[in-house]
Amino acid sequence: MSYPFQIKTPEEHQVAMQKSTNDPEGFWAEVASSFLWRKRWDSVLDWNFNTPDIKWFAGGKLNITENCLDRHLGSLGNKPAIIWEPNDPEEHHRVITYRDLHHKVVQFANVLKNNNVKKGDRVCIYMGMVPELAVAVLACARIGAIHSVIFGGFSAQSIADRLQDAQAEFIVTCDGAYRGNKEIPLKSVIDDALVQCRFVKKVIVLTRTRIPVSMIKGRDLWWEDEIKKVETMGNPDCPAEIMDAEDPLFILYTSGSTGKPKGVVHSCGGYMVYTTYSFVNVFQYKPGDIHFCTADVGWITGHSYIVYGPLCAGATSLMFEGIPTWPDAGRFWDVVDKYKVNILYTAPTAIRSLMSYGLGPVNTHDLSSLKVLGSVGEPINEEAWQWLNENIGKGKCPVVDTWWQTETGGIMISNMAGITPSKPSYATLPLPGVQPVLVDDAGKEIEGNNVSGNLCIKFPWPSIIRTTYGDHERCRLNYFSTYPGYYFTGDGCYRDEAGNYRITGRVDDVLNVSGHRIGTAEVENAINMHAGVIESAVVGYPHDIKGQGIYAFVIYSSTHGDENLSRQDISQTVARIIGAIARPDKIQFVSNLPKTRSGKIMRRILRKIAEGEVENLGDTSTLLDPNVVEEIKNGKL
Ligand code: PRX
Repeated sequence: MSYPFQIKTPEEHQVAMQKSTNDPEGFWAEVASSFLWRKRWDSVLDWNFNTPDIKWFAGGKLNITENCLDRHLGSLGNKPAIIWEPNDPEEHHRVITYRDLHHKVVQFANVLKNNNVKKGDRVCIYMGMVPELAVAVLACARIGAIHSVIFGGFSAQSIADRLQDAQAEFIVTCDGAYRGNKEIPLKSVIDDALVQCRFVKKVIVLTRTRIPVSMIKGRDLWWEDEIKKVETMGNPDCPAEIMDAEDPLFILYTSGSTGKPKGVVHSCGGYMVYTTYSFVNVFQYKPGDIHFCTADVGWITGHSYIVYGPLCAGATSLMFEGIPTWPDAGRFWDVVDKYKVNILYTAPTAIRSLMSYGLGPVNTHDLSSLKVLGSVGEPINEEAWQWLNENIGKGKCPVVDTWWQTETGGIMISNMAGITPSKPSYATLPLPGVQPVLVDDAGKEIEGNNVSGNLCIKFPWPSIIRTTYGDHERCRLNYFSTYPGYYFTGDGCYRDEAGNYRITGRVDDVLNVSGHRIGTAEVENAINMHAGVIESAVVGYPHDIKGQGIYAFVIYSSTHGDENLSRQDISQTVARIIGAIARPDKIQFVSNLPKTRSGKIMRRILRKIAEGEVENLGDTSTLLDPNVVEEIKNGKL
């Protein structure tokens, strides 16, 4: 497969940058032309950031799975689409060709249809990292159902909230999932969630771990039985549902500064064009390359750069069920060596954690197949960047630091491997078609270089968020109202003398823990559910491995029992309400929180204390009771 839109030289990069700014519509129309459309679009772009109302390729008709699968069958049918490496290295890996994947997707799409799933219905997918997760995602897209994948680490309560928000009546799950030496009872978590969600009609369960599960008559079905049923119907095709470019493709929930996660909605056409374009260009994918993205499909990175982007590009995507440190800290390098991986796309958190094991686990593997290394999810510190560059890339693989978000659908700011220069800890330059600006707190654009500000984007790109599911006003308020006329990212950013962008972290109340977005308000709500808690305030603090850790200041009704036990109870409550990823790293019991006279918690002060900057707390004159601060400082963990 060739990519007419692949940028191959710095000169071509210059040309693309210019064309995409001078004539964005012409630029994207040309890129989009190399996809399979059932009907060409009527207009390339209609937009208004104030409402917001953004349409790309309106009037165009397509199905993304025809682009991911059908159109490759002729030339790439026998080529691996997905290589699957199981959690346990002793278990057999699987190679799924484009033809196999097409067959599996069609089969499962028919299973969904047999169970009365229709275009526009929401299907929740809660599975481990098995190939059937990609099959389920694509089968939904095949019939026009809207998938909502929920990461396997979220709790029953989080699932119930998401099911209710999306009114999802169908669920696809597994009996259990393997992660390192743990076995996660996914179906049992779903059962707990469904106690509150009586509207769910069908739960399809894939066998993975054979952990005992309870199957409810009339509601719960085994994946394998349902496949047998469609097999007995002969070998029927499942023609792809023809979708409007602007029809929703999926919902993916993510955290914001309020307590309730929001369902980010992406559309079929623009998302397809942008994820494929960015995949091919940022990683400089060449036919035959093996692309290993270590993310989970439960996050946007997995959606865009394990499933849709690579498959639309006819690439081979390596899907890994396990974790980087099991059975030992050489697992990533083992996988790279075993499959001769060419592109490795991972997260700073994983790198920092692996760095702590030294070079022993690295040096026993042949990493010479690697051509490109990528980082995503959080700022990558210079030390981790250098370690990756020197010890994994051996100084010969470009490192791409890719900045983007669930809401942006695809990579927005990044160097292009081997085409544009890298700069450690800088995401560097926007992709063609992306127009970042820095604005001050009053919303005024900050011109020039060597400046810092709030990162906004002033022009739409094809995979921009379209709405937040069921609440369009929330989308407007969250992203388009802080700085009118701009999409606001929530990130702070610095622009250097050469125009390179360096993301400095969130400027809102969102934490980034191990590359996972968690709202402080969400964690506070969960802590406050604990019977003994009167009030709490949560802030982030620098954490060597996780990037940010969660620090909770808690007013507790009685701390004369065992403080450690109380901490564990609170932590357990958070794991129950949100999931283990949101467990606080530190819980400090306090008798009061620093508040202004109007009762607002002064988080700035708590943040400084958590960061260890106790000497320089800034202005505390507006505090109702300055003594509170002294007490908290003295009790710092
Ligand atoms: O703060 C930025 C950080 O992650 C946030 C987006 O999180 P999420 O929607 O979960 O998506 C993560 C994967 C795309 C951003 O607002 N972030 C992401 N990539 C980078 C980053 N911060 C610095 N450098 C990056 N490369």
